[in-house]
Amino acid sequence: MTETIKGSVVFITGATGAIAQALIAELKARGAAKIYAAARDISALAVSDDLLPIKMDVASDEDVARAASRASGVTLLINNAGVNHNTAFMLAPDLAFARDEMEINYLAPLRVTRAFAPILIKNRGAVLNLLTILARVNLPFMGSYCASKAAGLSMTQGLRGDLAPEGVRVVAALPGAIDTRMTAVLTIPKMTTAEAAAEILDGFERGEEEIYVGEMARGLAQGLTEDPKAVERRLASPG
Ligand SMILES: NC(=O)c1ccc[n+]([C@@H]2O[C@H](COP(=O)([O-])OP(=O)(O)OC[C@H]3O[C@@H](n4cnc5c(N)ncnc54)[C@H](OP(=O)(O)O)[C@@H]3O)[C@@H](O)[C@H]2O)c1
Repeated sequence: MTETIKGSVVFITGATGAIAQALIAELKARGAAKIYAAARDISALAVSDDLLPIKMDVASDEDVARAASRASGVTLLINNAGVNHNTAFMLAPDLAFARDEMEINYLAPLRVTRAFAPILIKNRGAVLNLLTILARVNLPFMGSYCASKAAGLSMTQGLRGDLAPEGVRVVAALPGAIDTRMTAVLTIPKMTTAEAAAEILDGFERGEEEIYVGEMARGLAQGLTEDPKAVERRLASPG
């Protein structure tokens, strides 16, 4: 099962995003042999010897199947694409935001992983899902996002059960707040994307199954072990 980045062949979704860009830089620094950078709009992604942009909407069965047929050497799939409407359940006008978050944060990584599973099994590879510590406790300010990432965490556990016997490692990264457009509305302290990318890949290379990224994530995880109801109440009345 893939544990080291050096020599790996990576496929990353949502490659134009801020965390993806930092991960790509860190993957290159750690000696990844090749990176397939998948995005809806690939015009800003420069082709090089070790980086191959692939046009792919994670919500499209056709796009995902076509991408998998072009990337038979992949040893590490990073499901990074995500969406956060930063809206509370009761403030959303209807179910459209919640539906979109479930589609992109839960069903899409399931779609992509299913498409790449035969390749990862053949190559004894790994899947790394970009979740959030809020997959483990709901922040009502962005309640439907948290619910979709909780589904992503359960999916990660289920896929691990399915794929571990086939020689494929399935890993979750659970970061706290990182400074990207997704968190622009938050005024709390945030990690840089470079710090987050380094911690994610450190945890991956250490062989962890759940990688808690940053002080916020580690603090919340500790709190969830000691007194989960206290953490739930704190997130329900922040400030
Ligand atoms: N920022 C944080 O604090 C934080 C914390 C924990 C976890 N995360 C997770 O980290 C991941 C990356 O987030 P980020 O902060 O880097 O946000 P970002 O800069 O907004 O990146 C999100 C990426 O996902 C892509 N995407 C959305 N829908 C897509 C679709 N249908 N098909 C293909 N790509 C799609 C976006 O592409 P377009 O540009 O085409 O929309 C964008 O490239 C997400 O899964 C997020 O939930 C973020």
